[in-house]
Amino acid sequence: MSRPAGGSLPLVDLAALHRELGEELEAAVLDVVRSQRLVGGPAVASFEQRFASYLGAGAVVAVGNGTDAIELAVRALEIEPVAEVLVPANTFIGTAAGVVAAGAIPRFVDVDEQSGLIDLDSAEQHVTARTQAVIPVHLYGRMADMHAVNAFASRHGLAVIEDAAQAAGARRDGIHAGAGGDVGCFSFYPGKNLGAFGDAGATVTSDPALADRLRLLRDHGQRGRYEHELIGRNSRMDPIHAAVLTVKLPHLDRFNERRRRAAQWYRELLADHLPDWHADDPASDVHHLLPILHEERDALARELAAAGVQTGVHYPQTVPQTAAFARFDGGPFPSAERRAKLQLSLPMHPHLSREDVERVAGLVDAFSPAALA
Ligand SMILES: Cc1ncc(COP(=O)(O)O)c(C=O)c1O
Repeated sequence: MSRPAGGSLPLVDLAALHRELGEELEAAVLDVVRSQRLVGGPAVASFEQRFASYLGAGAVVAVGNGTDAIELAVRALEIEPVAEVLVPANTFIGTAAGVVAAGAIPRFVDVDEQSGLIDLDSAEQHVTARTQAVIPVHLYGRMADMHAVNAFASRHGLAVIEDAAQAAGARRDGIHAGAGGDVGCFSFYPGKNLGAFGDAGATVTSDPALADRLRLLRDHGQRGRYEHELIGRNSRMDPIHAAVLTVKLPHLDRFNERRRRAAQWYRELLADHLPDWHADDPASDVHHLLPILHEERDALARELAAAGVQTGVHYPQTVPQTAAFARFDGGPFPSAERRAKLQLSLPMHPHLSREDVERVAGLVDAFSPAALA
């Protein structure tokens, strides 16, 4: 079988990242193994404290994954069962699944056509007497306007839960993604900008009472051994992941800067496909993903795959279009539905070279669906 010229280009290159930090990562994991503290303990506490100080937030409560973070945030805020939570229709399913796991009802809202992030005009139309919270999702690494979200929430008396799973390190107007609402939620799934060696997540809050409830909820509701104050979950972060995250955290800004450089190359070379998203405030986008919109998305993805370039679709359906969430549909959501048809994520990671980006952009530019017919 012939190999594509230039070799294959992955969507995300975790191997390159782990090669760069290899020795430090291995030493940190070995320390945990040798310590025999395999659940909780000092490695988790140390990561929590470092990440809180990085974010400028009062407390980080590490949990098992990003979906649990959303669920525990909804529960810690004491959102009543069957209350409604506003969720963008264009997001990863975990945002909405966390809401349902907490016993609340996701009420979907449309997204802004250009950014793909929550559209507050649509949110306004979906607020009811039962709405108790809103979840801005900083999708693709782009930060929603937290001043506007917080103003909207306080007008309606809503709690704000940020889904910052894709936006570790993003800042907008001096606010860190995850530290701008009542509770921020992170996923440290390996491919995220800050990724563990498996599933992990965190909640962030500057409210001590919320932090206290989150700590109880993630650990069987117990304050001390067998002192169960709440019906909680088992959603603790494994110390191996905490140790890995502690090694990676000091490199996060540097790696995000490299993502920005790659995004800038894409922007220069593919201006027609990339509406200029916050070029004036580059720190507000940490480019977890690099989505373009293309009318012939699937054919283009096939052509790129044939040339050895891996792409992804984030996401091919809006959440309410999935079979799982159809019963919560409150659409239509024209902008989210349009994006679901057109968006295609091109390779994006800190180890992309200018040549890599030129190769991808050249293929996208040269692609002509008519030539396939
Ligand atoms: C926007 C968003 N929300 C929530 C999640 C859920 O996180 P996890 O996969 O760690 O449960 C993810 C990640 O996968 C995500 O990208």
